[in-house]
Amino acid sequence: MSDEIKKGLLGIVVDETTISQVMPDINSLTYRGYAVQDLCEKCTFEEVAFLVLNGDLPNKKELSKFKKEIEVNRNISINLREIVKHMPKKAHPMDVARTIVSVLGLEDKQTTDNSPKANMKKTIRIFAKTPTAIAAFFRARKGKKIIPPKKGLSFSENFFYMCFGKVPSKDIVKAFDVSLILYAEHSFNVSTFTARTITSSLSDIHGAITGAIASLKGPLHGGANEEVMHMMNKIKTPEKAHKWINNALDKKEVVMGFGHRVYKRGDSRVPTMEKYFRKVSNAKHDKKFVKIYDIVKNVMIEKKNIHPNVDYPTGPTYHLMGFDTDFFTPIFVISRITGWSAHVMEQHTANKLIRPLSKYTGSDHRKVLLLSQR
Ligand code: SDX
Repeated sequence: MSDEIKKGLLGIVVDETTISQVMPDINSLTYRGYAVQDLCEKCTFEEVAFLVLNGDLPNKKELSKFKKEIEVNRNISINLREIVKHMPKKAHPMDVARTIVSVLGLEDKQTTDNSPKANMKKTIRIFAKTPTAIAAFFRARKGKKIIPPKKGLSFSENFFYMCFGKVPSKDIVKAFDVSLILYAEHSFNVSTFTARTITSSLSDIHGAITGAIASLKGPLHGGANEEVMHMMNKIKTPEKAHKWINNALDKKEVVMGFGHRVYKRGDSRVPTMEKYFRKVSNAKHDKKFVKIYDIVKNVMIEKKNIHPNVDYPTGPTYHLMGFDTDFFTPIFVISRITGWSAHVMEQHTANKLIRPLSKYTGSDHRKVLLLSQR
């Protein structure tokens, strides 16, 4: 048993997985063996969600059954809608998101059943209902009427419809769908490992996903897409970008949307997301953010050899789509529920309680003195 400390479990392999493979040397990410770049161009998010959860791409019949199952589960209870409506308006949407999943757990009749069949059923309910509840808060905190899901719309179309009351152009919907495909799964990232750790004590999937959402909120993880937008808003104009980023680097600041624990020569998802970011920027006739994006990216690579990660292009894309900045990471949630759930179910198939060791560096052992003697 080695007592060498690997802080942050850096470089430590703790288990096997069949769900996805990150290969930084060849800049590759595959879900169940399929390259994400290929999936983005040839599939919808629903097809990829089915793939991540079931292990293979659906045929027409399987896809139609899967979409029907999601559609019939999209509505949330009156109770949950009232809870969302009465959430503090200033609550962070990520805190609302984890509360939503907790309430879904309280309402779910199969909460204590960890069988594969029950976990898949619970996954579908969480996957279908969480976007509805998040969109409800998006509107309720603005004092707007909550819009229920609409039959016949895709996962992405429905999210726009429930947030804005209308579905944007096909190009915008496709870009959103691509972002959800790219966000769906990424092996043992900190929120997924959190979900697996919670599952390893045989706790339930709602608890595992609640914990994963709490982890994803952090700015070093999913919260980075929100921080990228805050950074761009601080920079304000392309003319100020070069000075701003050099100043930040001189002050040794951490630049959000850059760097990655596994990818050291660029995140394999960035080229695809960047392509759709540019498409959305053209469709919206707004070039400002693309210009800031390119200046900051070039300085980071030239000066620090630190490359963008997926959160860097996604942040400004969601801004151009009209989403409030603090809703960017909840969008990451509605996609990553697929990856988290697949890992919870995989953890159950060959579970071992996750319990690492620690090296003690505290006080020497000593005798307790009575209070009167202290
Ligand atoms: C996601 O794991 C996943 O797969 C996550 C994810 C997924 O799909 O689930 O890919 C999603 O979380 C992407 C990452 C989003 N986070 C950010 O954009 C936050 C900014 N990035 C950094 O905090 C950092 O890059 C981490 C936390 C992401 C990774 O850092 P590591 O692997 O712990 O490495 P490190 O922080 O020790 O950095 C190594 C060096 C340091 O310099 P030195 O102290 O050695 O001189 O690189 C520097 C760091 O200062 N560095 C940065 C930097 N990232 C690394 N310097 C400035 N800005 C940065 N963004």
